[in-house]
Amino acid sequence: MDKIRVGLCGLGTVGTGVVKVLESHQARIRHKLGCDVEIVKILVNDVNKPRDVIIDTNWLTDSPDELVNNEDIDVIVEVMGGIEDTNSLLEQALRQGKHIVTANKDLMAVYGQKLLRLAKENHCDILYDASIAGGIPIVRTLVDGLASDHIEKVMGIVNGTTNYIMTKMTDEGLDFDQVLKEAQELGFAEADPSSDVDGLDAARKMALLANLAFKMELTLEDVDVKGIRQVTQDDINFAKSLGYTIKLIGIASMHEDKAEVTVEPILLPKDHPLALVKNEFNAVYVHGEAVGETMFYGPGAGSLPTATAVVSDLMEVVRNIRLGISGNAYIDPQFERQLKADHERFSRHFIRLDVEDQAGAFQEITNIFSDQHVSFAKILQLPGEKEGRAEIVMITHKISQEQLLKSLQALENLNVVERLISHYRVDGEE
Ligand code: NAP
Ligand code: HSE
Repeated sequence: MDKIRVGLCGLGTVGTGVVKVLESHQARIRHKLGCDVEIVKILVNDVNKPRDVIIDTNWLTDSPDELVNNEDIDVIVEVMGGIEDTNSLLEQALRQGKHIVTANKDLMAVYGQKLLRLAKENHCDILYDASIAGGIPIVRTLVDGLASDHIEKVMGIVNGTTNYIMTKMTDEGLDFDQVLKEAQELGFAEADPSSDVDGLDAARKMALLANLAFKMELTLEDVDVKGIRQVTQDDINFAKSLGYTIKLIGIASMHEDKAEVTVEPILLPKDHPLALVKNEFNAVYVHGEAVGETMFYGPGAGSLPTATAVVSDLMEVVRNIRLGISGNAYIDPQFERQLKADHERFSRHFIRLDVEDQAGAFQEITNIFSDQHVSFAKILQLPGEKEGRAEIVMITHKISQEQLLKSLQALENLNVVERLISHYRVDGEE
C-alpha cells in the first residue's frame, strides 16, 4: 500500500488546519509511515464558499454519499461537528469498513461507546484525541503512556472559553458579562456561549476522560455540572484574600471502584499548577497510583493545534492498517458503572453567608455545622453591605457532600441567615 486516501468531512477552522498540516508536514509524515496520505474528497455545506486553503475544487462535495460509499476512501476524518446526522454518517462509513478520526466531543459523549463497538465489529479504528483539550495528547497519554498505571484522579481545565473569562475576571477585576462580551468580540467565545459557560462542553470532555482513565462506562448524565455564570467579583476577591483562585475545573476520581465526576467552579490554592493556567489554555493533571502527579498543558483549541491531534490520530490509523491490527482497541469496560453516593464524596468547601449582625447569630450558625460534625479551617467575618448585617466567609475541613447539603439546608431555614450567597468546592491541597 503506497497511499492512504482520506475523505475529510468539514473544511472550517479544524478542517483547514488538517489540510495545512498534511501539506506542510508531508515529507515527515511519509517518512514516518512509509506511504503517502492523500485527501480525495471534502464534504462541506457550501461548495462555492471561498476557502482559506488552496485545494483542488474537484475534491469538494455537499453529498455525504460521495465519501461514505466511495471505495477509494480508506479513512474518514470528521471535523464538521453535529450529533445525529454525523452519527448516521459515521455508522454508515464504519459499516463500509472505513476507519474514523474525529474531533467531535459532542458526538463522542453521546454515541462514543456505540461507535467504538461498531468500529470493532467492522475491524475498524475510531480515534478521537482532538475532541478533548485540542492540541494536548491526553487520550493517547491515558490509553498508552499511562497504560500500566492505576489512575486515581484526573483534574483539569478542559474549556478554554471559561478559563479565558475566569482569568480576565481574576486578573483585571472585570465582571462576567463584560468579559463574555469581550471574548465574543475577540472570537474566543461563541455567539451562543451556553455550552461553554454552563459547563456542558467541559462535562462532555470529562465524561470521555473518566471512561478512559477508569475503564468504566460513564456518560454525561453521570457528571455533576455547574457553570461559571454565578461567580461574582466578590467571590473572587474573598477567595483571593484567603489564598485561592477560582477556576472552572473538571474532576474525575475513583476510589474503591466507585467514581465521581464533576465540573464546577473550584477554589484552588493560588500556587497550584492549574491555578497558574491562564487565558484560553487547557491543562490536565493526572494522578496515577505508581507515577504520582503528572500534568499536560497546551492549547485546547484552534486550527493548527487541533489539526495536529487529528493528523496524529490519522497517522496511528495508517500504522494500524499497515501492521494489520486495526479495530483492536480495548473497549469493554473493566469495572461496572458505580458512582459514589453523597456520603462517600469528600471535599473542603467555601461558604459565604449574609447574616443578621446580632448577639448569638454566630453561635446559631456554628451549632448547625457542629450538628453535622463539620469543622472549619478558616473563618472571616466582615461588616455586610446593609446596615445591621454581616458577611461570614468560611472554609470547612473535608466533609461529605451529604454533610454539606444538610448544613446548607438547615442554614436556609435559620432566621439569622438572610441569604446563602455562594458556596464552592475547595480542592488541590492535601
Ligand atoms: P467550523 O469552523 O464551523 O467548520 C465546520 C465545517 O463543516 C465547515 O466547513 C462546514 O461547511 C462543514 N459542515 C458542517 N455541517 C455540515 C453538514 N451537515 N454537511 C456538510 N458539511 C458540513 O467548525 P470547527 O471549529 O472546525 O469544528 C469542527 C469540529 O471540531 C467540531 O466537532 C468541534 O467541536 C471540533 N473541535 C473544534 C475545535 C476548534 O478549535 N475549532 C477544537 C476541538 C474540537 P461550510 O464550510 O461549507 O460551511
Ligand atoms: N468551546 C471549546 C473551548 C472549544 O472553549 O474550549 C474546544 O472544544
